[in-house]
Parts: sequence; C-alpha cells; structure tokens
Amino acid sequence: MTYAELNKYPLSGWFPGHMLRAGKQMQESLRLVDLLVELLDARAPLSSRNPELLEGLRQKPRILLANKADLADAAVSRQWAAYFAAAGESVTFVDSRRLGNVRGLLQEWRGLIESGGSRPAFARPLRIMVLGIPNVGKSTLVNRLHRRNKAQVGPKPGVTRQNQWVSLDDGFELLDTPGVIWPRLRDKCHELMLNLLGNIRDEVVEAQLSAQFLCLKMQELGAQKRLAEQCGIETNQGRPELWLEQYARKRNFLLQGAEPDLERAALAIIKDFRDGRLGHISLEKPLGAC
Ligand code: G4P
Repeated sequence: MTYAELNKYPLSGWFPGHMLRAGKQMQESLRLVDLLVELLDARAPLSSRNPELLEGLRQKPRILLANKADLADAAVSRQWAAYFAAAGESVTFVDSRRLGNVRGLLQEWRGLIESGGSRPAFARPLRIMVLGIPNVGKSTLVNRLHRRNKAQVGPKPGVTRQNQWVSLDDGFELLDTPGVIWPRLRDKCHELMLNLLGNIRDEVVEAQLSAQFLCLKMQELGAQKRLAEQCGIETNQGRPELWLEQYARKRNFLLQGAEPDLERAALAIIKDFRDGRLGHISLEKPLGAC
C-alpha cells in the first residue's frame, strides 16, 4: 500500500451538525474578543489547522499554540518553530496538561494585545477565544488556565446563551465554549492522519487504513525501529502492509483458522501511537526539512 493507493479510498464525509452551529457561534463571538489563541497539534501543525477559515479573521491578533508537544519529536518541533517564524507567525509548543507549561502564557498574551494596539478603549478584562479542531486540547488549556486562576464560571449577558465566559482573576476572560474549527481535508491521507491524532472519530474512519498510514509514515520517517522494538515487528523485512499481519501474529490476535485479526491489530497499533508508546513522533515536517 502506498500513499497514492490510500488516497483512492473515499473520504468519510463526516461533518456533524453541531460543528456547524459551533462555527457560527464562534463567528458571532469574534467581535467580542481581543485575541485568538489558535491551537494546533504539534505532531502535524499544518494539517491540524484550517487556514481558509482563519483567512477571514485576520483583523484579530492571533497567537499559535502547538499543543501535545510532549508527544511530538522535539527536533521536528524546532523546525516548525523556524518555519512559522519565517512566515511571520510565532508559535509556542506546549503540553497544556502541565501547569508549568501554561503558567506564563497570560502575561505573554497581554503583551501581544497591548503591543498590537487592540487593547479595549475602556477598562474591562481582556477577552480571549481559544479555537482549534476537535480534540486538539482546547478544553484542557482553558481548564488549566482556569484552575491556576481560581476562576468563577458564569453566563454572561449579551452573549449567545451557550457561550460561557471564564473570568480569570488577573484581568482576563476566556470564552469557555471553545471555537471548533472543522479541518478542510485535502485527501484520504489527511483524514487518516487526523484520525490517528484523535481529531476525527474512530467510528467513521477505517482503522486498518489508519494503521497502514501509520506504518507508511513510520517507514518514511525512518522510525520503523520503534515498531520493531515496541511491537516485535520485523520492519526490515516485508512491506508496511505486512507489518499489521506480523503484529497480529505476535500478539496472538487470531481469528478462526489462525488467520491474523488485522482489525484488532490495527486498533492496538493506533492505541500504541496515541499513548506515546511508539516514541515521540511528528507525522508532518515542514516542506524542505529532512
Ligand atoms: P478539545 O477541547 O479541543 O476537544 O480537546 P480536549 O481538551 O478535550 O483534549 C482532548 C484529549 O487530548 C484529552 O485526552 C486530553 O487529556 C488530551 N490532551 C490535551 N492536551 C494535551 C497535551 O498537551 N498532551 C497530551 N499528551 N494530551 C493532551 P482524552 O484521552 O480524550 O481524555 P482524558 O484522558 O484526559 O480524560
């Protein structure tokens, strides 16, 4: 199986209705905020954003946070930092579950709002909207910032009822219904990548295709040794499509007649990747980087 062969499979076409509603709410709330914090997945910073959707939001100061940096390859993250800097965007890599990682963010954001001249004309808290694709870590970040600041949560009049503002005690308010952006999928491989990262629900994507994509990626990245070590797969023998079969046999995932249970093997290898058991892996590198 090659990337081109994977791309022949149809996209799932999954677009839940609540995403559309959330997108509309997000647009309505935009005028109320001073800064957009866009979360990306550090393991695939370009594939985990929707630049077209953000095109219309250029008038608001925006900062990029590449989340789940703990799962990414630190050397590749440094390449991404250089890539975004060259494009005039600064990006901070964080593990938003860790207080130490998010502690300094608010002061950084205040500086950005003030230097960008978008400070509100009258005294009111600075308002921030956290946005990004599903499961990228928006709630985790909001909760972490919230807990650090002993915030009170309450509905705010004049704003769409579903939106909640979290008041932080040092002059900030965060929008607690984080803006959900829907990724604009390029092709099947893009969908498989986002499924591996947890952004597209497992129910709508074929696990065996995602696992095949992962094996191909590991080979492309020269990281197949990790599969050999972690999963006992002989990655120097055979093509990636055979690795799943080997893995099934290794773990004794067998169907009747001792046929390898490829579905079970696929689910297990995807879980290994998501739990970080295959090491720090970035699925995407900036163009031109090696
Ligand atoms: P969302 O609001 O953007 O939809 O994402 P959410 O915060 O719900 O996070 C989705 C999953 O990603 C959660 O795991 C969360 O713990 C995990 N996560 C968020 N930030 C980070 C990070 O920086 N590093 C790592 N490794 N994981 C992160 P979950 O398994 O869905 O839930 P749970 O196990 O935390 O209960």
